[in-house]
Amino acid sequence: MADEKRLVSLQTRVDALKSVASDERPVKQIKKAVGASQKGVVGNEKVIKIDAESPNGPVALDIGTSHIIAAQNKRDRIETIKELNAFFTVPNAKYAKDILNRKDVIYYERGNQYYITGYFAENFANLFNTNTRRPMKEGLLSPNEGEALSVIQAIVNTLIQKPKKFGEILCFVVPGEPLGGTGSVLYHQLMIKRFIGSLGYSPLSINEGMAIVVSELSEDDFTGIGISMGGGMCNICLSYLSFPVITYSIQMAGDYIDSMVGGSLGEPATRIKAIKEEELDLTREPKDRVMTALHIFYDEVIFRLLESLQRVLNSRDNIPKIKTPIPIVLSGATAMPNGCKGKFENMLKNVSLPVEISTVHLAKDLLNTPAKGALIVAMREAG
Ligand SMILES: Nc1ncnc2c1ncn2[C@@H]1O[C@H](COP(=O)(O)OP(=O)(O)OP(=O)(O)O)[C@@H](O)[C@H]1O
Ligand SMILES: [Mg+2]
Repeated sequence: MADEKRLVSLQTRVDALKSVASDERPVKQIKKAVGASQKGVVGNEKVIKIDAESPNGPVALDIGTSHIIAAQNKRDRIETIKELNAFFTVPNAKYAKDILNRKDVIYYERGNQYYITGYFAENFANLFNTNTRRPMKEGLLSPNEGEALSVIQAIVNTLIQKPKKFGEILCFVVPGEPLGGTGSVLYHQLMIKRFIGSLGYSPLSINEGMAIVVSELSEDDFTGIGISMGGGMCNICLSYLSFPVITYSIQMAGDYIDSMVGGSLGEPATRIKAIKEEELDLTREPKDRVMTALHIFYDEVIFRLLESLQRVLNSRDNIPKIKTPIPIVLSGATAMPNGCKGKFENMLKNVSLPVEISTVHLAKDLLNTPAKGALIVAMREAG
């Protein structure tokens, strides 16, 4: 009986793998797979043909809970390339290898498993109706995944190679210390730094909120508050004249919203994530229970973010006396839905801060802003 079950489960996996390779899929599956694989193909084509090259000049890396983004300056333009920071494993059987190779899926072999990485992992997880595995949790290397660093290394290697010139500067983004958090930013930072050094770069790091300030607030003399609302964390930095006076993070953001909504409604978090990314508009009255729950947990994340800002800024004695009001810049993909900034502004009215806020504005490129800020620092450092 147990063997029968195993066989059925193996057969399901074989069928799903075949369906990745075949066009004879049910229409619904094809749509899903095309959506995900188009993203994968973008990453993949760039990886193989264009961007997985040895950089000539400084580089930036933003290794986030959801995405890994590399940035370079090419022909006086900042170019970014991204992958999903996720993986999916399948047994290393010959049938799997043939299919993966035929479809140019990005994977590597370890033990008796194939590790499928990036957007392809999401594609496979959808086909198996399950979740991808994630090397990072709440902004830091996941304590639950022993292979976390090797997966991140594999993904980074698909985005950038060793530099043309040994010792080229690479500036990577690090999170702020979580308020009441359990994970260690220092461990996370040093592990990433070692890996980057082993590729032949001179590693340099910048706080994620500060990278937003560098990218967006040059006209304000780099004075203001940079906030990244990401997947695993919200990162906050108060910068005064380019000095990061206060940096910290809270370990709740997009993933928290997905899992709380999913847990409340008995739905998988990945399904909620897909609905959130495609349909959520926070300016509209919610029409069903998923939208209602998404509104509730967006409110909660923004409330907790602002409440932390009030608590931290009012409890520190190193806040500079800033005479003029300062801006807040929101970035990170969780700030994307229409109405997120409006909700933030409304709730900000109920918060008492020791500095006056002039405006709240969204970064120009919500997903890539920290990587762009890190590249600016790398370029300056390189002279
Ligand atoms: N259109 C969208 N609407 C709402 N949320 C979105 C949208 N697109 C992406 N997201 C969410 O943004 C989050 C990822 O944001 P981002 O890529 O900035 O995080 P990250 O930098 O990888 O993570 P972190 O900085 O927290 O470690 C995910 O929760 C994702 O579901
Ligand atoms: Mg981020």
